[in-house]
Amino acid sequence: MSTRTLGLIGSGAGGVEKIRPSLIEPAIRRGWQVAVTLTPTAGTWMEANGEIERIQEVTGRPCRVAPRLPSEPSPHPPIDCYLVCPASSNTVAKLALGLADNQALTTVCEAIGGQVVPVVVFPRINAAHARQPAWNSHIEALRSVGVHLLMGDEYWPLHEPRSAPGKDLPWEKILDVVDTVVS
Ligand SMILES: Cc1cc2nc3c(=O)[nH]c(=O)nc-3n(C[C@H](O)[C@H](O)[C@H](O)COP(=O)(O)O)c2cc1C
Repeated sequence: MSTRTLGLIGSGAGGVEKIRPSLIEPAIRRGWQVAVTLTPTAGTWMEANGEIERIQEVTGRPCRVAPRLPSEPSPHPPIDCYLVCPASSNTVAKLALGLADNQALTTVCEAIGGQVVPVVVFPRINAAHARQPAWNSHIEALRSVGVHLLMGDEYWPLHEPRSAPGKDLPWEKILDVVDTVVS
């Protein structure tokens, strides 16, 4: 039985609706256990399309959106690697600033500061997000503390807003990086 656990964080960006068949099930086939946490936006989308229930069936553990009560134990086991995918521009900015105002950000902000568990981030953004004046400093801040950022034409060529190329995320390449980072 697999002993390594991937903490998958999904945010409100294109592709999140596909994480079960495209990331979670392939990761399980690669020998990972997967513990999923969604931002509130992604949680709303995935509740509406029925994916939260399916993710829980496939992973065998709760798909987290809300924080636990102080009296409750954490529903997820210790994590060996965090993968934030897809990461919205909003979630990337908040991670860079240490803003932890939802459960997904809370766990990843702690991992970034903890410097023990590797963090891989796939920003699923467009060209306008990248031209936002604070974007480059957010990326530099995250890189400076060792966050693995999967960016550039090799991963996700930037397109202008509302001109989405209908391109799928490079799911297998993303999982290859996760496997490399952990081994
Ligand atoms: C249908 C739809 C698709 C979106 N896709 C993206 C996207 O691909 N990338 C992105 O950065 N924001 C996208 N957004 C905007 C984010 O969902 C929005 O900024 C939200 O506040 C992100 O919240 P979160 O980071 O907490 O999940 C999209 C919004 C909608 C309604």
